[in-house]
Amino acid sequence: MSLAIAVLISGSGSNLQSLIEKTEDEILDVDIKMVLSNKADAYGLKRAQAYGIPTATLSHKDFDSREEFDTEMVRILKDAGAEAVIMAGFMRIITPVFLNAFPGKIINIHPAILPSFPGVDGQGDASKYGVQLAGCTVHFVDEKMDHGAVIIQAAVPAYPGEDEDDLRKRILKQEHRILPQAVQWLAKDRLSVEGRFVKLAEADVEMAKTYGVSLVNPPLEKGF
Ligand code: GRF
Repeated sequence: MSLAIAVLISGSGSNLQSLIEKTEDEILDVDIKMVLSNKADAYGLKRAQAYGIPTATLSHKDFDSREEFDTEMVRILKDAGAEAVIMAGFMRIITPVFLNAFPGKIINIHPAILPSFPGVDGQGDASKYGVQLAGCTVHFVDEKMDHGAVIIQAAVPAYPGEDEDDLRKRILKQEHRILPQAVQWLAKDRLSVEGRFVKLAEADVEMAKTYGVSLVNPPLEKGF
């Protein structure tokens, strides 16, 4: 049976789009029960509606505390039938109220290789720092921001002095690959967590070996 998920967004929803498309293509075995945004003008809501996926908007500004906001979110998502929650560009910190409602079933995508550059502008912070490699991380959510156990990461090169938006786009392209992959592993119950470590059942370790050398940037020259 497909895993019933809800997707939380705050903006464009391109990660949501990648989840929808992989589901339509029957690569990802989930049933997207609801898309919830804390912003009424989030473009991602339109993307969901285009596929007939139920949507909800819940403004955190209408609540006195994070806990009250989370309580209402939980009610809406449970009513929709969600068993797991995917935070795809959702720019809010959640409380134990939310965590305890979906234990071990909340994951988040962050546009940096954690634990480097947590926070609201991972790509901009990495770019300003002058990293040669940037990237993105999908992780389980815990009570601290951008902190839970890491499921999958992707690295991309960064180039000195490049437009920050170019780096953002390069990272986003990888987000669109690793988020659906992580969700599929969750849907197939292939992830187990021991402390900070996430173990993937039936991981294709041989496949990893075929990648050859690790990603190095700038590229190594002949002889190194
Ligand atoms: C992504 O970079 C995500 O990692 C970050 O916000 C961006 C949202 O993009 N937290 P989108 O809404 O999925 O297009």
